Amino acid sequence: MALEAEAKAISAKFDYTDEDVNKGVREFLRQMNEGLEKDGASLSQIPTYVTAVPNGTEKGLYMAVDLGGTNFRVCSINLNGDSTFHLTYTKVAIPKELMVAKTAEELFAFLAQQIEVFLRTHHEEQFEKHLRRRMTISSPLGFVDEDVFRLGFTFSFPIQQLGINKGTLIRWTKGFDIPDAIGKDVCALLQKEIDKLHLPVKVAALVNDTVGTLMARSYTSPGKTGAVLGAIFGTGTNGAYIEKLSNIKKPMQGEYDQSTGDMVVNTEWGSFDNQLNVLPNTPWDVELDKQSINPGIQMYEKRVSGMFLGELLRLVVVELLKKPHVSFFKDESSDSNDWKSTTNIASDSTLYTQWGLDTAIMSVAAADNTPELVTLRQELESTLHVYAPSLEDAQAFKAIAGAIGRRAARLAAVAIAAIVLQTGSLTNPETADEPVDIGVDGSLVEYYPYFRDMIYEALRAIESVGEEGAKRIRIGIAKDGSGVGAALIALVAAGMEKAEPKEYFADYIGQLRRNAREHALGSLAEEGDDVAARD
Ligand code: GLC
Repeated sequence: MALEAEAKAISAKFDYTDEDVNKGVREFLRQMNEGLEKDGASLSQIPTYVTAVPNGTEKGLYMAVDLGGTNFRVCSINLNGDSTFHLTYTKVAIPKELMVAKTAEELFAFLAQQIEVFLRTHHEEQFEKHLRRRMTISSPLGFVDEDVFRLGFTFSFPIQQLGINKGTLIRWTKGFDIPDAIGKDVCALLQKEIDKLHLPVKVAALVNDTVGTLMARSYTSPGKTGAVLGAIFGTGTNGAYIEKLSNIKKPMQGEYDQSTGDMVVNTEWGSFDNQLNVLPNTPWDVELDKQSINPGIQMYEKRVSGMFLGELLRLVVVELLKKPHVSFFKDESSDSNDWKSTTNIASDSTLYTQWGLDTAIMSVAAADNTPELVTLRQELESTLHVYAPSLEDAQAFKAIAGAIGRRAARLAAVAIAAIVLQTGSLTNPETADEPVDIGVDGSLVEYYPYFRDMIYEALRAIESVGEEGAKRIRIGIAKDGSGVGAALIALVAAGMEKAEPKEYFADYIGQLRRNAREHALGSLAEEGDDVAARD
């Protein structure tokens, strides 16, 4: 009984009431507007230079790469022009040591190598054709245009965007830490490594995964108005939405099309309320933050996203294990365990190691509603090496995990509601019959049972949304959104390139000279000469 009462008391500390949700929405709106007015606010509100969403008729073959969490994905996307697409992709895990590499070059060289492997595997013909062309000086447009893939680079970290394919890294998140890359243009870093390998690829667009998700959602489910928000609830969490240009008060560098009157803004909401005006803050939240590599930053993300929820649960579990009067994952005798054994935590269990509890087990806990919680207990054995956990243990684990998950979903509703309210979509009489469409992606929203239901429950409790508003908000999965979205933005960017003949020509002359020089010398231009300097 002591365990049950203890679990209840802990779960209550993760309660996030309707009142809290409403207060959260008001503060979110305030911080959003602060971010639109000046740099350096908690919510970065980054203008993306994307000024329109697609309508489903876009066509062509593009490449996209995605760096943003545990994996690096390379894909090619054929947009069919009828709201459908065909996607080919490969995925590799990012080696842990590269996430904290000494130089940016190490990481980006690895990325370029993966692009080469992908091209050789899936687009051999185009690749070979390009290699042959490199050996000859051929027609200008043919060389530049025909065989060079336009690539959309999904780079899901906070970026100061300076143009559609230019942006400098503000800070790393999600466990990456390569100080050398801060302040550098990540497109240029990638292009440099691509060029070293002589790949027929031009980095045409720089995209946050949330922006990609927004684009993809609008391409695949076009309505009268398109999606208003693209959001990720995965390893990290963030959202991008369509804002009126007139609301963006802070200065913007670079050129953009003003005709639509709109621009997609990347909120970087992972850092909402870093100052903790309204975010809940249990002792475990405090500890998690203290032990993280970026204390005081990404405070909302640390309460909402997949990277952190498991760690939060682990910290609670460890504290519970230390309480002498609570019998958690331990038995007096086999008699007190319904499996007639005694519970053991194996010495190799990762329960006592930071990040040792994978958030995935929280989905198992939420999904297992059987009386004996057999699946969850097996999962505790196989992943955490807690042997023969009793039913009471599993129930306590499930209750606490559920409370952490529920708080995350209700916090997610805060961000979603604030953005819907900011766009005015619920009150616009012209679109009164249309759903307010939101594209989401990420492991949490995809695999955590009832995550969306819990979001809706909280949305209904928000004063300016209510039952009626919540009914109109349509939250739909935009699977592979970032890849497809990056391709769509690369398409827009390719269109913009043609409007810039001078730069295009200079690009071509540079290529031509390099070709001629290489041809003549039979080797790469040497470092320090004028051709190399041009690069
Ligand atoms: C982190 C990144 C953000 C990204 C999000 C989801 O919050 O800072 O750029 O969109 O994770 O991947």
